[in-house]
Amino acid sequence: MIRLYLTREEERVYDGERGWARQMCMRIIAKLGDLFGADKLIPVESAHVSGVSYKTIGDNASDFLKSLADAGGKIKVGATLNPQGSDSEYLEKHLPKQLVEKQSNILKQFERMGFALSLTCTPYYLKKPSKCAHLAWAESSAIVYANSILGAWTNREGGPSALASAIVGKTPDYGVHRAENRIPKVLVNVNAKLENESAFGALGIYLGKLLKAKIPLIQGLGKPSETDLKQLSAALAASGMVNMFHRDQDNLPTKMKDAEKVTVEAKDIHRTAEELSTASTKKPDLVFIGCPHCSLNEIRRIAHFMKGKKVKTGLEFWVCTSPYVKEKARNYVKQIGHSGGHVLAGVCTIVSWTEKLGIKTIMTNSAKTAFYAPTMNKAETILAPTSDCLKMALQG
Ligand code: F3S
Repeated sequence: MIRLYLTREEERVYDGERGWARQMCMRIIAKLGDLFGADKLIPVESAHVSGVSYKTIGDNASDFLKSLADAGGKIKVGATLNPQGSDSEYLEKHLPKQLVEKQSNILKQFERMGFALSLTCTPYYLKKPSKCAHLAWAESSAIVYANSILGAWTNREGGPSALASAIVGKTPDYGVHRAENRIPKVLVNVNAKLENESAFGALGIYLGKLLKAKIPLIQGLGKPSETDLKQLSAALAASGMVNMFHRDQDNLPTKMKDAEKVTVEAKDIHRTAEELSTASTKKPDLVFIGCPHCSLNEIRRIAHFMKGKKVKTGLEFWVCTSPYVKEKARNYVKQIGHSGGHVLAGVCTIVSWTEKLGIKTIMTNSAKTAFYAPTMNKAETILAPTSDCLKMALQG
């Protein structure tokens, strides 16, 4: 028995009158709503589903996807997918065949349910959500970015609840779907110059651990670029459960004068960056940019820097982005390819099988990758801004 109010039509779905797939999905979100004290469901503008890589979901979840597709499960709202662990142009040729097959079977099930293979953790480059739109997004980096930078409203969904919302078109009305839960609780003053996107990432990792799930108002960010804010969002969500932040230009809520206060000094950011660089060598096997997935501008900058230069022999250089942005960046992609780098579409390095490619040390501009790679990829890490990563990747 659920306490949440359901409309007559929602009840029919819940009772199975609209088929098993929709019933299962309705039961997932109704249960979630009950657990978090929601009193009703609300429609969502879009859903973003994580749990696409075979590395993270394995056989049981793959079977569940197949059951939903077999039972006629179909998406009801605009829905995007997180990256996978392989790609058809490059990694597929080097990874074990069995993993590639398992991965492609997962994509097949999503396609049967009507998903386009967007395969990205930056779905907002494909289509920006409307301001104040309610979303059901999984992928923590995109959630923080959507709530904090794009002004959309989404809880931090898991893969199953985002999938259920994609099929039902609704989400429970709780958490940051409600204005009263979006008020900052901690006032953070950054007393340090953040010189590049990796420093923004290190700040995010530091604050994520400190804040856990408390929403901050962050002052002292200066004039961050889109990339800086994307790195901050991803890192905050990697080390903590924060699902949004406010920043300088927002009006200071009057209630904040009694809020908890935190000051971040330069030494905190340096120490965090140092801790994120675990490598015992200065020579990486892989230099990787694209966590979260690169924008067209980032790829353009990388291509310009690489023009006329060559990637060092024996070194892998990857730029990860969505299939959509890769297509838009065709000419830059060619340029990076001529230099010996690879622009991988729809791939997440963290949920790929880099260890099977002999990659032991990863250099990256992403604090989120540096945070996860030691456990997820059994790799040592070097965290450095894009300019240093490119210098390391190129000869001469
Ligand atoms: Fe995206 Fe993977 Fe990083 S999903 S945010 S590239 S860990």
